[in-house]
Amino acid sequence: MAEAHVTRAPTASPCPAEAAVKITMILTFVVLLLMMAFGLLMRLNQAAVVQLDPTMFYRLMTAHGIGMVGIAGMSGAAIMWYFVSRHASLTGWVFWALLSSFLVGVVAILASIFIGGFAGAWTFLFPLPAMSGGVWDTGAAALYLVGVIVIGVGFLIYLVEIGRALIQRYGSLSNALGWPLLFTGHQDDAPPPTVVATAVIIVFNGIGTVVGAAALTISLINLYLPSFTLDALLAKNMIYFFGHVFINASIYMAVVAVYEIIPEYTGRPWKASRPFIAAWNAVMLLVMAVYPHHLFQDGVMPAWAMVMGQIVSYANGVPLLVVTTFSLLNYLYRSGIRWDLASALLVTGVFGWSVGSVPAIIDGMISVNNVMHNTQWVPGHFHLYLLLGEVAITLGFAAWLARGEAGELLSGWKSRGLIIYAIGGFGFATVFLVSGAMSVPRRWAAHLPEWQFQDQLGSIFAVATILGVGIIVIPMIKRLAMTMRA
Ligand code: HEM
Repeated sequence: MAEAHVTRAPTASPCPAEAAVKITMILTFVVLLLMMAFGLLMRLNQAAVVQLDPTMFYRLMTAHGIGMVGIAGMSGAAIMWYFVSRHASLTGWVFWALLSSFLVGVVAILASIFIGGFAGAWTFLFPLPAMSGGVWDTGAAALYLVGVIVIGVGFLIYLVEIGRALIQRYGSLSNALGWPLLFTGHQDDAPPPTVVATAVIIVFNGIGTVVGAAALTISLINLYLPSFTLDALLAKNMIYFFGHVFINASIYMAVVAVYEIIPEYTGRPWKASRPFIAAWNAVMLLVMAVYPHHLFQDGVMPAWAMVMGQIVSYANGVPLLVVTTFSLLNYLYRSGIRWDLASALLVTGVFGWSVGSVPAIIDGMISVNNVMHNTQWVPGHFHLYLLLGEVAITLGFAAWLARGEAGELLSGWKSRGLIIYAIGGFGFATVFLVSGAMSVPRRWAAHLPEWQFQDQLGSIFAVATILGVGIIVIPMIKRLAMTMRA
């Protein structure tokens, strides 16, 4: 068997709760495949190939949305935990607590959907959980909200622990954010890229999670005490702020794997330069300021918030593209890198993420949004950067974790799996984009006959995606389980 050239990171120290990180990866594969199957069922229903009761379609849509967002957050959290432990001293039980809260929350959410019939979409938009029109009862909505709150509490403990460890190691959060280097050009004990990125993420994701928890708790009380209410526009702002921040954080957390693993292949350490630190610190503000681009159609929103949403949508993509994609190209150029499954997936992930941000920026323009909002353009762009971005990076990390001492060259079923997954994922998301451009609405269980050709094509690409991901992850499950026993 041929072997790829890989240098191990000299500073690598054992990760506390490494077994929990590996279990999270295996759980990620299982949840991904199951939720993809739910997604395929929805697409086949839109294509009129299968006939689902509309209430079942919306249950599947709710499970698919919350399941995918949750597992993206969980896998991103596992990756960031694993690499932060190289630079700061973490307390192992905290990650086990996060994993446990995730599992408890998932059981509650699945029961609320498939036993209780909750089908209000993962965005639990206030006051929809309380207004089911008889489709689900109060108990089912409450169970759903409690499940999400339990997971949120696990995330908050996780974020606080990472913040504590960084402050202990670097003396202050501003040192971990690289502010002395950014503002004076000099810092003793300057933080590496992973630390800068992590410090940024815990700030905005911490704020987002608290805002989300508040919206969830108010919705929960409102279920049993309807007079305890919240302004619906404020609730929508809180929920979209939380949702936008959380899903973006899942990608940013996963990207840490690129900063840590790619240097092992290229032999070129990823440096935290001043532009790098400036870009990440800009992301901290931009990712929180950009969320009003989800609310362009809410005419009652203040005009300044809309203008900010549009302008920041342009600015948001710049640090992201420059810092990561451009630097990656630079590090790869003439590095002599030899490709194995891990490096190929990580690079695919960065490009999927970058390409996916382009239709997102386009939809962030008010004039385009007036036409594209609530069309399949929206699932088109987020499937592109989640399916080919976050998921590819996560699979790359898992392949690296499972590969033993040396990576095997990309050949045989590994390369076939990667190609099938990449073509399937790209085709699947592109069909959504094309349908969106033709004004096919999103979140409709039943489609008109003239839209069903795209739905059938999308279903074929979805089958390819599931097949490709299956080929990649099934051998990895065995290897990850074996490394846990070793
Ligand atoms: C084979 C893979 C996948 C298939 C077949 C699939 C299918 C679908 C379908 C049919 C929808 C509803 C589209 C509509 O609004 O008309 C949807 C929505 C969604 N998908 Fe996927 N998907 C896949 C992968 C993913 C991945 C990897 C993620 C995230 C990591 C994801 C996250 C979401 C989210 C957040 C929604 C929105 C749900 C809502 O509108 O409430 N999907 N997906």
